[in-house]
Amino acid sequence: MKVTFRVPRFDAATDFTAKYQVYHVEVNQFTTILDALNIIKDEQDSSLTFRRGSQSGIDGSCGMMINGRNRLASTTRVLSLNTTEIAVGPLPGFPVIRDLVVDFDSFFAKDAVMLPYLVTDIAKPADGKERLQSPKDANRIALAASCNQCGCCTSACPVHWSNGEYYGPSALTRAYRFVEDSRDTAIKARLDIVGSETGVWRCHTVFNCSECPKSIPNGENIQALKRKIMLNKIGLGRIEVKVARTEATV
Ligand code: SF4
Ligand code: SF4
Ligand code: FES
Repeated sequence: MKVTFRVPRFDAATDFTAKYQVYHVEVNQFTTILDALNIIKDEQDSSLTFRRGSQSGIDGSCGMMINGRNRLASTTRVLSLNTTEIAVGPLPGFPVIRDLVVDFDSFFAKDAVMLPYLVTDIAKPADGKERLQSPKDANRIALAASCNQCGCCTSACPVHWSNGEYYGPSALTRAYRFVEDSRDTAIKARLDIVGSETGVWRCHTVFNCSECPKSIPNGENIQALKRKIMLNKIGLGRIEVKVARTEATV
């Protein structure tokens, strides 16, 4: 079956506005949007620019807007869209560098603010190996830890569109992943970060960010962070409890 792709062409170095270009690609039941873009690039127009990495939904580099929704091009089959007309565009809310490639510098800078690594003052076990978690504790963070930083959620967030300083759902889910990690003891530092002016209180609970290719419930994670901040403010937080639980499970 032949499918029509409409793609904006834009180069930030030379253009003020995008021009749209149309391509026709023969697809079958297995062809993904990324396969189709590869076919266009290899056989029709080598200047078409987009990101690709694992080509299998792992690294998150192929996030883009496909027929009005942010999705991963490598895990979206063309025929699953039930149409022969497909509009592909860069992720909204980020500056476009070229065609489908956006500038993620601010996105990654916000992630770095969240201390996106284990911080712990719990002593290493006697064998000097890693601090273990119980399966229950590992499951608690498994979904949030599966985020591949594709940016689809933050790009879909209306607060991010209007306030570029807002940390956004991806960075906040990153903080949530470590706040909930039974081995991590920097919970207070992270709650201070996400509770700051550009953090969770900016979220208007629109839940656009729930359209995550990994099904990560970003909106719920943000609400959980809000609850933790409030509980800790009134002295009912679980910071000390968490440390005690961790010691019991390592
Ligand atoms: S939470 Fe989901 S949509 Fe957001 S960056 Fe991670 S994988 Fe992508
Ligand atoms: S729930 Fe919050 S973070 Fe998610 S899209 Fe809405 S405003 Fe943005
Ligand atoms: S190319 Fe890696 S997730 Fe799509």
